Amino acid sequence: MRAVPWIIKYRPRSVEDVVDQEKAKEVLVPWIKKWLSGTPPEKKAALLWGPPGVGKTSLVEAICNEYKLEKIEMNASDFRRKNDIERIALAAATKKPLPPWKGRLILLDEVDGLSPRGDEGAVAAILELIKKTKNPVVMTANDPWGQHLRPLREAALLVEFKRIPKTKARSFLLKICEEEGVHCEKEAIDYIIEKNKGDLRASINDLQAVAEAFGKVTLDLAKALLAERDRVLTPWEMLQQLFYAKYAWQARKAVTSTDLDYDTLFLWIAENVPKQYGDDPYDLWRGLEALSRASVIYGRIKRKMNWSLLPYYFNALGPGVALAKTKYHKRARWSYPERITLLAKTKEVRKIREELAAHLARLSHVSKSYAKGELIPLLSFIAQANPRYFARLALGLRLNDSMVKYLAKKNYAKVKSFIEELSVRPAEEGKKEAQEILEELKEEYQKKTKEKSNKGREAGEGLLKWLKKK
Ligand SMILES: Nc1ncnc2c1ncn2[C@@H]1O[C@H](COP(=O)(O)OP(=O)(O)OP(=O)(O)O)[C@@H](O)[C@H]1O
Ligand SMILES: [Mg+2]
Repeated sequence: MRAVPWIIKYRPRSVEDVVDQEKAKEVLVPWIKKWLSGTPPEKKAALLWGPPGVGKTSLVEAICNEYKLEKIEMNASDFRRKNDIERIALAAATKKPLPPWKGRLILLDEVDGLSPRGDEGAVAAILELIKKTKNPVVMTANDPWGQHLRPLREAALLVEFKRIPKTKARSFLLKICEEEGVHCEKEAIDYIIEKNKGDLRASINDLQAVAEAFGKVTLDLAKALLAERDRVLTPWEMLQQLFYAKYAWQARKAVTSTDLDYDTLFLWIAENVPKQYGDDPYDLWRGLEALSRASVIYGRIKRKMNWSLLPYYFNALGPGVALAKTKYHKRARWSYPERITLLAKTKEVRKIREELAAHLARLSHVSKSYAKGELIPLLSFIAQANPRYFARLALGLRLNDSMVKYLAKKNYAKVKSFIEELSVRPAEEGKKEAQEILEELKEEYQKKTKEKSNKGREAGEGLLKWLKKK
């Protein structure tokens, strides 16, 4: 098993390495040489067009290699951002590179990815780039005939690429087999080439798939692996073919022939390995070993985005699991992955968690992920350890009922009653306090009015006395 795909390993390094496409070379190479001679050709851009997998990108790379050109590349998704085209490509097209480069080549790969509506700006920017460039601009496309690409067609030298003729493809594939030390039948090679209709990339990929699965390439094996390659298995069919595979290639085919994504595929197999192998501890152990290997590899793929490890993942999951068994196991009752069912069941809960995180994030000016990672666990801990205190926090944070339920879990009832108590108490206390205050005020008022009336009486009596004296 080799980690490097053969389409990479056997990529042409020089113009001569590029299989066929003589016409294209005859046009493109002199055009590049003109650039290098110091007098740019009349058309400053070239548009390489033709079916997939026939060497368009490869020829550009080979030219860069051979003529020491620094390749400045943009793909279709960068085209969407007009600013990016202007900034990167324009700078690239006007500045001279440092040694050892002798020049630059701007590669705009797959321009037919531009949409007729919405990418007009990008087309205009590319035209502008072609106008200003001091270095060759090379575009590629499978189908350059869209109306919206017309300005690009007109500005460029059109270079057609043809499907690779059978004889040329055959000798190329045979050379690879020789290089790899793999036994190949000519009929098998022809079958592969026929199937791929002049797409050399697809043919090389098929050749590698058969060679890796069987260690040799015969017509029967090629048919067995490739004929049904595009058939999509249901998860149940996948399990059937995986657990009852006699050969590694069958198991591998099983796991690569579903349309499950890589995570879900893992869940399906992980769910059912214990069921299928559960009656034999040794087989079960070996099956789980294979699963854990697959999981480690997949973790690495995701962490480092290293997709060249994908074949190893499939090998661990497919042949690894299938060949873990040392004896026949009768068909177990397989089931839908628990985790997926669980996810469906917990959909509501996850929704609440999201709301809660958003709520806390807003209140405490932190990110949602901080709220999830730090605040929610803390709150939920407090809810378990000290429901009364948690109730106060819940009120202060204005958590709604479902949030409280989510955090308090089994303490929900307790917390709820504390919350009620807390939210009732202030009113009662207030009432009491208000009454007390009222009471005090009343007393004071009475005292004052009494004083007043006393004073009045005194005053009255004084007046009387005074009058009597008079
Ligand atoms: N003419 C060729 N000579 C040698 N190898 C080739 C040729 N065509 C394709 N290949 C092999 O197939 C791979 C893919 O080819 P390439 O990227 O050049 O195709 P393309 O024509 O640009 O296809 P697409 O239109 O899909 O971009 C290369 O890495 C190389 O291994
Ligand atoms: Mg290409």
